[in-house]
Amino acid sequence: MKKQSSIFNFQLIEPMKKIAVVGTGYVGLVTGTCFAETGNQVVCVDIDEKKVEKMRNGHIPIFEPQLDVLFDRNLKAGRLNFTTSLEEGVRDAEIIFLALPTPPGEDGSADLSYVLGVAENLGKIIKDYKVIVDKSTVPVGTAERVRETVAKNAKVEFDIVSNPEFLREGFAVDDFLKPDRVVIGSSSERARNIMEELYKPFVRQGNSILFMDEKSAELTKYAANSFLATKITFMNEVANFCEIVGANVDNVRLGMGSDSRIGKRFLFPGIGYGGSCFPKDVQALVKSGNQVNYNFQILKSVMQINEQQKTILVPKMKNYFRGSLKGKHIAMWGLAFKPNTDDIREAPSLYMIDALVAEGATITAYDPEAMENVKRVKGDKIQYVENEYDALKDADALLICTEWSAFRNPDFDKISALLKDKVIFDGRNLFETEEMNKLGFYYESIGRQTVTK
Ligand SMILES: NC(=O)c1ccc[n+]([C@@H]2O[C@H](COP(=O)([O-])OP(=O)(O)OC[C@H]3O[C@@H](n4cnc5c(N)ncnc54)[C@H](O)[C@@H]3O)[C@@H](O)[C@H]2O)c1
Repeated sequence: MKKQSSIFNFQLIEPMKKIAVVGTGYVGLVTGTCFAETGNQVVCVDIDEKKVEKMRNGHIPIFEPQLDVLFDRNLKAGRLNFTTSLEEGVRDAEIIFLALPTPPGEDGSADLSYVLGVAENLGKIIKDYKVIVDKSTVPVGTAERVRETVAKNAKVEFDIVSNPEFLREGFAVDDFLKPDRVVIGSSSERARNIMEELYKPFVRQGNSILFMDEKSAELTKYAANSFLATKITFMNEVANFCEIVGANVDNVRLGMGSDSRIGKRFLFPGIGYGGSCFPKDVQALVKSGNQVNYNFQILKSVMQINEQQKTILVPKMKNYFRGSLKGKHIAMWGLAFKPNTDDIREAPSLYMIDALVAEGATITAYDPEAMENVKRVKGDKIQYVENEYDALKDADALLICTEWSAFRNPDFDKISALLKDKVIFDGRNLFETEEMNKLGFYYESIGRQTVTK
């Protein structure tokens, strides 16, 4: 039987599969919801009781565009269920996805305790054949470790698959439903066939499912993220150099990006990359290198440069205020590590907050989605307001940390009226320098010449 799903126009092909997703964070919830959307029966497992209760009651614990429509529909259709019990969650599942955290351990390498802990328990509770799929980002060799860990206790057959996830927060639903590619690392023909069938509805436009060995699949994810982090960092260095020699990074970017070998994307300079993935994945790949005596020199530089880049505007701000930020009040637009998410993990804004407060400045911030998360980690170190203009009242300068679309065309008359002085430090290059010149702002951005009043 074939049905049409209304908003994404998917053909739902039965028979559906029974799936468990262990870990219901950004990746797990999107994975579970999108597989439910293609007609599968999904149980999401999480140890966080409050989160599970919330989701059972129809509330999404994260902000992710488009997720609510799919979540509601599949919850109501009974295809999406939640539990805190691993045993209950995986009982009927043929495929078990592990979408667990792999945060940096004390030495910076990926902490596999969540993944291996669940693998240990799975071995004890599985009662029939399962495909155990690692969706978390994990170092090369993890599939083997998961296999050994499950095998210690398992009395039934199982296969391990490495299926790294490439979704971007903010576009996660679209990325999941229409992936550029799906990477499946497995040495088992049986598991490959099951995974191919599961992903068929997502690759109907001709995007590929790439089959490979587990190790290559694991490394593909780290290599892709590290390459993107390197691309951003390279542009940040070019931008810093532009400022010194009097070039404009926008022109350089357009000139470079029109070369199809380079491509237009990921060439925008700014105050560094953040998020839950790039910083930890670059670091974990360097650590993986160390473990086999390979020195990832390029990635070490990337990490070092990005660290500096996050607070690169602080000396500029200090310089503008004649050497001291003491007593200065800064309006901050944007806290999330990037737009369209409430995720603040490793966000440059947090580094700016610490650096500015340490210099004696005070901050009033606004972000459309991330303020609650920042309140949890920074408390009353800064003030929060309900819209971007309220942040400007009595501020000595505006600082932009995240490129939310809503900030791109602001009411400059209002900004001029509310700020004590017309001063903007823009960590995301939202405005044209000519425009700012005409409007009479002092405007410092990244890789472009300072506009003075
Ligand atoms: N966030 C992204 O954009 C993204 C993209 C691609 C890959 N990844 C990778 O996917 C993995 C998950 O990332 P995330 O951002 O979804 O993490 P997250 O922190 O948002 O979610 C992890 C979830 O796992 C739950 N959990 C922890 N221990 C558990 C256990 N024993 N049993 C059940 N649930 C448990 C937590 O409560 C949490 O809800 C990581 O390896 C990450 O690197 C993330």
